[in-house]
This record gives sequence, C-alpha cells and structure tokens, in this order.
Amino acid sequence: MITGNASIAGVIGDPIKHSLSPLLHNYWLNKYSIDGVYIPLHVTNENLQTVIRSLGDYGIEGINVTVPHKESVIEYLDIVEEEAQKIGAVNTIYVKDNKLVGTNTDAYGFIHNIRSNLPKNYSLEGMNILILGAGGAARAAIYGLLNENVSAITICNRTIEKAHELQKYFGSKINVVEYNQKEEVLAATDLVVNTTSLGMVGKHPLEINLSTLKIGGIVHDIVYNPLETELLKQAKDRGYHIITGIGMLLHQAVPGFEHWFGFRPTVDNELEHYMLEALK
Ligand code: ATR
Repeated sequence: MITGNASIAGVIGDPIKHSLSPLLHNYWLNKYSIDGVYIPLHVTNENLQTVIRSLGDYGIEGINVTVPHKESVIEYLDIVEEEAQKIGAVNTIYVKDNKLVGTNTDAYGFIHNIRSNLPKNYSLEGMNILILGAGGAARAAIYGLLNENVSAITICNRTIEKAHELQKYFGSKINVVEYNQKEEVLAATDLVVNTTSLGMVGKHPLEINLSTLKIGGIVHDIVYNPLETELLKQAKDRGYHIITGIGMLLHQAVPGFEHWFGFRPTVDNELEHYMLEALK
C-alpha cells in the first residue's frame, strides 16, 4: 500500500524502459511492507540538471543513475563519496541534511556477488585476477578487488590504451596484456572476470580458450542475460567453478535501498529466481 506518507525513489536514464531496478526495489518494498515506491524516470541530458537539483523539492529520497548519466551527473551533486570519485561515476544518489550525495555501489555489488558465490575456503585475498575489458564496469571491478587485497590484476582489452590508462590510474598491482595474448596468463590466474559486453544477448561471444586456466580457477561473467554465457558454459564444461552476473545487479541495489527506505534488504534465492523469471 502506498499512502500520502510514502518514501519515493527511482531511477533516471535515457532510455529507461529496459531497467530492471523498478522490479527489484518494488519487490523488496512489497516483501518488507514498506510504505514506499520506486519509479522509472526518463530523463534526457537536456533535463538532467533540472531533475537532479529539484529532487529535494519533491521530497524524493534519492535515485539510481543509469546510462548515459553516470558521469555527467557528478557536477550537479553537493557531495561525491570516495568510491564514486575513484570509479569516476555515480550510480546512486541520496539526500542527506538537504544535500545531494552521490555514491557508487557497483564495486560493492561486484564484490558481494563474488564473495557470496566463492567455493568454501576460498578468499579473494592474494588472488591473481584476469580482467577482460577496460570500460566503466572494469573500473568498478578493479576498485573493489584492490580493496580486497588481491595479489595482482592483469587487464586485457581490445583497445590496449584503455588498459594502460587504468594501469596508470590504479597503480603497481596492475599488469596489462595484449588482447590476443590473454590465454598466456591463464596458468597463473585464480579468477577470470569478463567485464565486456561480449556474450550478452545479441552480441558476439567472448573468444577465449580456457584450457590452460589454473586447476581450481574460477570464471565470473558480469553479463547476466543470458545467465550462462558461452564463456561460463565453457568454464563449466572444463570443470571450473563459475559465478554468474545476476548477483551483481541484486547486491549493488542494497546500499541505495537502505539509504532511501531505512531498511537493509537481503539478496536471496527467491529474489534471484524472481528477477530471472522477469528477464525471460
Ligand atoms: P561498461 O561501462 O559497461 O564497461 P564500456 O565502457 O562501453 O561499457 O566498455 C565496454 C567494454 O567492452 C570495453 O572494454 C570494450 O573494449 P574497447 O575498449 O576495445 O572498446 C569491450 N568490448 C565491447 N565490444 C567488444 C568487442 N567486439 N570485442 C572486444 N571487446 C569489446
């Protein structure tokens, strides 16, 4: 039930119709019987400043920010938290003491998904990681992984200059390999992560031969549609542990929900099943 006292949050983007966030947040609002609503808002570049600066005027608790506004929104905020500054993008805004605060929960979602799905007795600490891709998702992943005290991260990207930029930015634990040499580092890799859009519905699969991946190695794809990409199928067939991408979407939503609605929701199998059904 939504009363006149309801807390309001939402997501801005252009386009916005494909967003899964309304389903997710309204699922939790319903589950926890919270008087609140989460709405999709189609906001163009032209209207971005007006919408952001007037959020407080309507008593809106905050919003998620999606493509193409994650970077451009920063200049309209009063405070930008450290994660968002380091990642260079904001995906969550909340109002605190009449100030608009921007944060980034992608690294949180990425790490919590991996942590919840690692085999028993595994830890990210000390791991050698291969990151495929060097876009916004890679940036969030690398920021999160460095906080977990991984041993080293090798970035492999079609456009090698972008990998070098990230290396310069994130420092001494980062290595770079040529795109056609990715297989060469697999024997020393504990965790392979695809952060590119390859493998997504309508895109080409990611081409990589996992046959030399370290025994006990793990393969994670942040793509969640399809849930089992060709990359994950190959890894599974070769006997490696796999981690799908849907959990990142679910976990990254937790901090925003807690800020806006004052309750920390849980990510469980029932929610995952609900979201996967919606994706179908
Ligand atoms: P996001 O913010 O979701 O990470 P992005 O910044 O556009 O999106 O990054 C997409 C990533 O997928 C990039 O690493 C991109 O490689 P380039 O930097 O060379 O563009 C990678 N990618 C997309 N299509 C690709 C393809 N066909 N082959 C190899 N890499 C691809």
